[in-house]
Amino acid sequence: MSTNNVKNVVVVGAGVVGLTTALKVLEKGGFNVTIVAETFPSDPKTIRYTSLWAGAHHVSHAEGDLKQQKIDEETFKVMWEMSAPGGEAEGCFLRLQQTDYFYDGRNPHLEWMPDYAELSPDSFIPDAKFGIKFTTLTIDTPAYCNYLLARFLARGGTVVRGAVQHLQQVAEGGPHAFTPGRTGTQRVDAIIACPGLGARTLGGVEDKDVFPVRGQVVLVRAPWIKFGRTASHLQDGRWTYVIPRRSGDVILGGTKVDNDWCPVARPETTTDILERCLALCPELVPPEVRAERTPTIDDLRPLIVEEGCGFRPARKGGVRIDVEWIKAGEKEIPVVMNYGHGGGGYQSSWGTAAIALELLEESLSKDTA
Ligand SMILES: Cc1cc2nc3c(=O)[nH]c(=O)nc-3n(C[C@H](O)[C@H](O)[C@H](O)COP(=O)(O)OP(=O)(O)OC[C@H]3O[C@@H](n4cnc5c(N)ncnc54)[C@H](O)[C@@H]3O)c2cc1C
Ligand SMILES: *[C@@H]1O[C@H](CO)[C@@H](O)[C@H](O)[C@H]1NC(C)=O
Repeated sequence: MSTNNVKNVVVVGAGVVGLTTALKVLEKGGFNVTIVAETFPSDPKTIRYTSLWAGAHHVSHAEGDLKQQKIDEETFKVMWEMSAPGGEAEGCFLRLQQTDYFYDGRNPHLEWMPDYAELSPDSFIPDAKFGIKFTTLTIDTPAYCNYLLARFLARGGTVVRGAVQHLQQVAEGGPHAFTPGRTGTQRVDAIIACPGLGARTLGGVEDKDVFPVRGQVVLVRAPWIKFGRTASHLQDGRWTYVIPRRSGDVILGGTKVDNDWCPVARPETTTDILERCLALCPELVPPEVRAERTPTIDDLRPLIVEEGCGFRPARKGGVRIDVEWIKAGEKEIPVVMNYGHGGGGYQSSWGTAAIALELLEESLSKDTA
């Protein structure tokens, strides 16, 4: 035992949650970390992998829940540093001014964000009852997830492609059980399960409290947009946002429908998103067109790069971060659960990864005690 203190940890899942958690554990030191996943960020976009479909921006939904706020604040701090001018991940982020309007008049308690200010009612959009502005950042999700993967590999992490049927396959067979032609097993000391929506079906987890919240988006090319804007109503489902990326692409959304499994963009929803976004942000239409006439959504259609949808991995009761023990031959090993991030997997990624690391270290110290 004492000859090899390095612990073998297998992370299941390579979405933003699995990648961030794997990196957090690897960079702590003392762990040999392998990611096993069915889909990686360099694969083509698929509805089985939510992370590539997100906007994404950091606009916390904690609304005064102090535990969630701490998680989101910690993540913001890490991302703010990563997005620093000249830093290696700068290109994955756009720092910008965000404006949020609330049709229901609720206060999201984002006073902790930089440059926070309440808007005066005379600058509200029609029907809004409250408005704020602050500084935040947006995340270019394909670039960022691939950055996380590259950093993980560069620091000595290993990746294995595999569709896990039951966590016991990982516990007993080791990560290379999924590599064709490989023989022999490798000791696994702990598993971290970050399967997103896969938590519904993955053996050893099978959490029926996990459900999809479908979000449809339209990706447009509008490099002149350098600010973010959102308008929302909690109850009636209205939720419109404009999220520009550093690349000049802009994500327009959105929808939020529980248990809707439709895997492709619905044309009528795209039309609805374009209408809402044009009303919220007429600046989306090129300035020369606006100078000529009152713009319509037909002026937005030529800007479309892609339409699609993703399934936010939501969970009744919120994110699950705790530990279960699973049989691995003669002994039992800990499984740290980290899934169910719903619509906030980016903005809570580093905070939840830190909790998962704490639980991992705690369990492994019990294990050898
Ligand atoms: C339209 C839209 C907009 C969004 N906007 C934002 C935003 O602005 N800010 C924000 O913070 N969040 C946003 N989100 C939410 C965010 O995208 C999710 O919370 C996040 O991507 C969840 O990441 P994940 O790693 O848990 O899941 P996923 O990205 O789905 O990754 C799951 C991983 O687990 C693997 N896996 C699952 N089951 C198995 C198995 N049995 N065997 C092997 N591998 C398995 C998959 O292959 C994949 O690698 C948005 C989501 C959508 C859809
Ligand atoms: C680390 O994990 C990889 C992949 O599972 C494995 O091939 C390698 O032998 C491990 N290294 C050590 C030092 O245990």
